Amino acid sequence: MDYIQEIKRLKKEKNAIILTHCYQPIELDEISDFVGDSFFLSKKAKETEADIIVFAGVHFMAQSAKLLNPDKKVLLPNLNSGCFMADMLNLKQLREFKSKHPGIPTVCYINSTAEIKAECDICCTSSNALSVVKSLNVDEILFVPDTYLGKWVEKKLEKVKVNTYNGFCPTHLRIRIEDIEAARKNHPGSKILAHPECHNAVSRLADFVGSTKEIMEYVKNSSEQSFVIATEKGVLDRLKRDYPQKEFYLIRDDIICQNMKWNTVQDVYNALKNEEHEIKIEKEVQKKAYRCISRMMECAK
Ligand code: 13P
Ligand code: SF4
Repeated sequence: MDYIQEIKRLKKEKNAIILTHCYQPIELDEISDFVGDSFFLSKKAKETEADIIVFAGVHFMAQSAKLLNPDKKVLLPNLNSGCFMADMLNLKQLREFKSKHPGIPTVCYINSTAEIKAECDICCTSSNALSVVKSLNVDEILFVPDTYLGKWVEKKLEKVKVNTYNGFCPTHLRIRIEDIEAARKNHPGSKILAHPECHNAVSRLADFVGSTKEIMEYVKNSSEQSFVIATEKGVLDRLKRDYPQKEFYLIRDDIICQNMKWNTVQDVYNALKNEEHEIKIEKEVQKKAYRCISRMMECAK
């Protein structure tokens, strides 16, 4: 069967859209309506008038789409698509962490479950974390679950104390100082672009630190010819495709998030055809978590 043609036909028949994160296998782009980072896809999920959203990403992203547009049917093609970082923080751990710092607003990275969002004040993604924290107008926050993004925000904003939970992304943490040193030696003159989920010691040595979208924008707007990509390989694959005249190197061969690679074209087809793997959120959680995520959408447009 020609899955690609069938998916295109089913999308029309069922009034469905496919949202795809830039870390997904690149062959999904052909069937996707929008490809981008988690904030861009959240905006697309919120504004769509389609009846079905197939979310080619990880679970928290599909769940965020459901939070933002609860009347839609949101499908995750392959249920193995979790996120190690999101799984590092459960409700009990969040409550314990908050009880050690009473009265301080809690910002949660979008890489968290709906239950966590329901107990936090505002959500952020890596592309809007600075504006979200600034919007609170306070001098101290709690930041969960990613300690490295939280500490990066603290360094950038200087005047806000950021108490971070000790979660992290195992994929980005594979990147070591020695990898940056080796890249400088092997690719002299290349710009090193890193995601803020990297260890802060690594981010400090990069030429630019930004979200997936910001990294792609940096390349688009730069007159430089050569780049070392210190984030997930899906970003490198798309940059190579979109800018064939430029040179790109992945900082290490193993910066691959396995969670992001489960969804296949066939899984998308099955999800859409059978309307399977629907994201469901308990009513009370939906109500509270919606407040948290929509506050982000209000302050970071
Ligand atoms: P973005 O917000 O840049 O899309 O990143 C999401 C993510 O999971 C990074 O590991
Ligand atoms: Fe989660 Fe890291 Fe994969 Fe992003 S790259 S989805 S943070 S495990």
